[in-house]
Amino acid sequence: MHLNRREFLHASLFLGFAIATKKGWSNKAPLSATERRDLFPQGVASGDPTANSVILWTRRPPVKDSEAKKLTVEISTSPDFKKILAGGTANISADSDWTCRFLTTDLKPNREYWYRFIDEHGFASRIGRTMTAPEESSDAPVRFTFVSCQCPNEGAMNAYRKMIFEDEARSRDQQLNFVLHLGDFIYEVTWYAEDNPNGNRGRRIRNLYKFPQGRKVSNFHLPVTLEDYRTLYRAYLENPDLQDARARWPFVCVWDNHEFAWAGYQSQYVAGGGYNAPAQNQKIYANQAWWEFIPAMVQQPGNPKLEQFVSPKVVDTPMEEFNDDGLSEEPNNLLAINSLKIQRVLRWGKNVDLLLTDNWSFRSPDMSTDDFEVPEYPRVSPQIPLEIMNYGRHYNDDNPPDTIRFNGKDIPNPTKEVFAQTFLGTEQRRWFIEQLGVSTARWKIWGHTFGTMELRSDYQNLPGELGSKWPKDAGYAVMDNRFLRDKDIIFDFIRDQKITGFCVVGGDRHAFHAGLASKALPPKKFEPLGVEFITGSISQQTLREVLEVTMKKENPKRVLHLIDQADGKMIPSMNVTPLHGVLSTLKLKETGDMEQARAVRNPDVAPHLSFVDFGGHGYGLVTATTDQLSTEFVCIPIPFERSERPDGGPLNYRVVHRTRLWKAGEAPKLEQEILEGDARYCI
Ligand SMILES: [Fe+2]
Repeated sequence: MHLNRREFLHASLFLGFAIATKKGWSNKAPLSATERRDLFPQGVASGDPTANSVILWTRRPPVKDSEAKKLTVEISTSPDFKKILAGGTANISADSDWTCRFLTTDLKPNREYWYRFIDEHGFASRIGRTMTAPEESSDAPVRFTFVSCQCPNEGAMNAYRKMIFEDEARSRDQQLNFVLHLGDFIYEVTWYAEDNPNGNRGRRIRNLYKFPQGRKVSNFHLPVTLEDYRTLYRAYLENPDLQDARARWPFVCVWDNHEFAWAGYQSQYVAGGGYNAPAQNQKIYANQAWWEFIPAMVQQPGNPKLEQFVSPKVVDTPMEEFNDDGLSEEPNNLLAINSLKIQRVLRWGKNVDLLLTDNWSFRSPDMSTDDFEVPEYPRVSPQIPLEIMNYGRHYNDDNPPDTIRFNGKDIPNPTKEVFAQTFLGTEQRRWFIEQLGVSTARWKIWGHTFGTMELRSDYQNLPGELGSKWPKDAGYAVMDNRFLRDKDIIFDFIRDQKITGFCVVGGDRHAFHAGLASKALPPKKFEPLGVEFITGSISQQTLREVLEVTMKKENPKRVLHLIDQADGKMIPSMNVTPLHGVLSTLKLKETGDMEQARAVRNPDVAPHLSFVDFGGHGYGLVTATTDQLSTEFVCIPIPFERSERPDGGPLNYRVVHRTRLWKAGEAPKLEQEILEGDARYCI
């Protein structure tokens, strides 16, 4: 049963040290093996499928007296493993925390495969299932879910259970091709139960793990070492629902912020509680742990192998200067942020190119000041100062003002000489545009972690009844709008090149949003160039949940977010305020009726938005065919505890947005249909 080394040499030149091939393996009888899930406590996984390959993953740590050094991988076309189609072996060791990546090649397109790992003692992992992508010429529809923001330490993974239950009920040709994970796969910031005896803002803390080293800041803990980051992944992957999902579909993953640092940039660690420090070593630890636990076709520059991550030697060094693009060229920073490249493109036949970017490693530091905050209005920024500071010296076609008018005063512009805020960095932005330009897929889908759509409201139109007024000269109240120059450059390219089928899928916001992607909103030119969908979190707290717990009932501004009803229930007006404007929200408070509220909407606030839910959890489900793209939001109640039901528990609503593939020069349009449940305060 041993593979001849020569038989897996050709692919090892491509990527990875261990591959599987049919040669010498096809039609072999399987090894006799005993399934021992306790010896593979994080289960199995697969990632980044192509039309003929997929990376398989497991972890086989020493357990009590049982240690393994070598794993045999078996791949079969049936779950009973009667015949083995392909296989190979891989070495494992403590250097990669006993994780194993195995690149399986020579597979057939658009097929289901089953796989398992067997150690040298005959102990086997659970059986995993995976699926290859359709061949390049295929018109087959592509289906995938997109997810983000999961924290088993403070919530349950009912969304995955529902996803599995629903997929099992579909016919084979309707089943998901893959799961796109848009990051916050882990939350590095950790609240321990003993520091927070009442839980964390209403959530029960499970204390699934403790950092071997860690650093306590305020009432939470942050990772410090490689072992600390590995501890997070090990604990998360023991979750049975997440583990079942990884064993059912290939995952395609990018990181968001929390895989490294709550609010960092490049290799700087920034967290709440005022913690802020250069962290080149920590960035490399975070990258290494991600690489070890997330099977993906990603590369370390100069290291094509899959066996072991190579850590560059760095010294934690403050970043003191930034170049014209907001990048620190400090050598330790460059080594750290380039230690793993996750930006990549994956293809599913003629229908889908999936473009994935790294939105954190190359991001510029935030140079805005708090001179323009409006403390009476929580969680919004005044539009005009925000835009001026975001564009830096590029504002107004490179003519930024000397001062910014705010509350009747002229305040010096703090960013007149400063680079524009960027999340991609110049090099990655260039790469992304190039990929977009050469893509021939009907649907060019950008896995973007946090998305591009602006959310804002017209606080300038508030009557005096809420107390202090929104400042004059401030424009709209912006809830979310970031990296405006990146947006300009990318959307100008899409418009100039007449690119069609452009779709953004995002996470991070812990909210469902659907709409049209445009670089600007009224009074500037509103010009839809694509469609955009943001998924609610798998489990992490939403704005609605946080405000319900933390916002005082007597706060006069509460109506903009929550409307209290006589029975103690709350209407989430926080969706209505950005969708329709403040007068709609006030009308909703007066009448309790959405139709009357919509009748007084301000059409300029959000001509791009079709759907907003700041209180929903769940996932998005995309189906891309030759002429239509549809995205279903599957929304579940707050997953405080694990559902005992096989379907993952109740559903709040299911809503679908569809768009026809538009022609060059046309604008995309979205159609909406509520398929199930109650989403009346989200539209
Ligand atoms: Fe998140």
